[in-house]
Amino acid sequence: MSSPSKPVDMSAYWLPFTPNRYFHQNPKVMQSAKGAYYYDDHGRKLFDGLSGLWCSPLGHADPRIGAAISKQYETMDYCPAFQMASEATFSLASRIAKMAPKGLDKVFFTNSGSEAVDTALKIAIGYHRVMGNASRVRMIGRERAYHGVGMGGISVGGMVANRKMFTSLMIPGVDHLPHTLNLSQMAFSKGQPIWGAHLADELEKIVALHDANTIAAVILEPVQGSTGVIVPPEGYLQKIREICTKHGILLIFDEVITGFGRLGANFGADRFGVTPDMITFAKGITNGVIPMGGVLVRGDIYDSIIGNGGQEQAIEFFHGYTYSGHPIPTAAAHAVLDIFESDDVVNRAKALEPVLENGLHALKGKSGILDIRNFGLSGAIDLEPVPGKLGLRALKVLEACIERGALVRVAGDCIAVGPPFISKPEEVEFLCSVLGDAVDAAMKVK
Ligand SMILES: Cc1ncc(COP(=O)(O)O)c(C=O)c1O
Repeated sequence: MSSPSKPVDMSAYWLPFTPNRYFHQNPKVMQSAKGAYYYDDHGRKLFDGLSGLWCSPLGHADPRIGAAISKQYETMDYCPAFQMASEATFSLASRIAKMAPKGLDKVFFTNSGSEAVDTALKIAIGYHRVMGNASRVRMIGRERAYHGVGMGGISVGGMVANRKMFTSLMIPGVDHLPHTLNLSQMAFSKGQPIWGAHLADELEKIVALHDANTIAAVILEPVQGSTGVIVPPEGYLQKIREICTKHGILLIFDEVITGFGRLGANFGADRFGVTPDMITFAKGITNGVIPMGGVLVRGDIYDSIIGNGGQEQAIEFFHGYTYSGHPIPTAAAHAVLDIFESDDVVNRAKALEPVLENGLHALKGKSGILDIRNFGLSGAIDLEPVPGKLGLRALKVLEACIERGALVRVAGDCIAVGPPFISKPEEVEFLCSVLGDAVDAAMKVK
């Protein structure tokens, strides 16, 4: 391997969600990004196989986003988020609401997916309280879910490692549905597995156990992204919706990854034909250029909370962030949505879906690959672990991919991919073939 162009002092930076000790032995330093590629400190050009962290569907350094940010900086670099807002923030909310499933027509802005999730949970609790159902406080998440790192998000989340150090911080009254991945029934499924809709009935059991009157909301990622692209079985989300409706439980789709085109539709809700009561979003809305997140909320939930706010001069919902609806990410988001419209971006993502599906499933049969899954412009492969060293195989695959010119995402011993929507078909094919060669190389690690 070549040496880095210049040594970097790594002593102070504590890397998030990273094995810091391993990293210091095997550092990865990026220097620039343009289009669908990163360039690292070894001078390598790396195809961005995960669109940053699922957040850069338009690739990098699109001048139209940069120009919008720069113009906004000159015009108004900040606007207090409470008691006022910029014109562009109002119009962005309207624009996002227009893209969303019918009925989700209010937007609360946050700065990240984690904040969006905690905000949605608070809205759910607040809504039931103002509706006279203050006993509805329980939340239901799902095993293997990732809902960010706030106290609410880790509580409804189902990634054990994200929870076990922080058990004392968990919000009380949370149950988890089983996840839907069962390799004995669905390994190597293309798109949605046929088996598994019955797992939604577990929700009825949780409701029966606690009584519907105690449950505020169910939160689900339509496709579980961070634990390796776990695709909902056919009919599963529809059943969850029916059970929630029947029992007056709010359904929140966490679309931080699946929102804004990743599934070949504006939202996963559209792709699956299931309308939740709230949608959390982040990542793609600004193409990852600058942080922004938010919650799309059913109009009557907003009306209920606002309508029960007491005297007109009183604040109705005691929640918000200094940077909610910040003008600069707002400008970036408008530019991103302009590009979505002018460049027909969602359809480009949809057109690439079969290319990724074919490329990934062509790896079936390789030694060490236990499963291959895909949906929309996302996919994952499960790998046989190095005995006694969980996670090492996938790290070795990542490093072998980097040597061959592509970046992928590691999650345990799973590799996830989600290329930018601007990718050319041959670039998606290149990613899959690099991945196959990298698996072969990493299988030599004992
Ligand atoms: C479904 C989902 N929810 C929430 C989050 C947290 O978002 P953030 O890292 O912006 O806080 C993520 C991040 O990957 C996510 O995938």
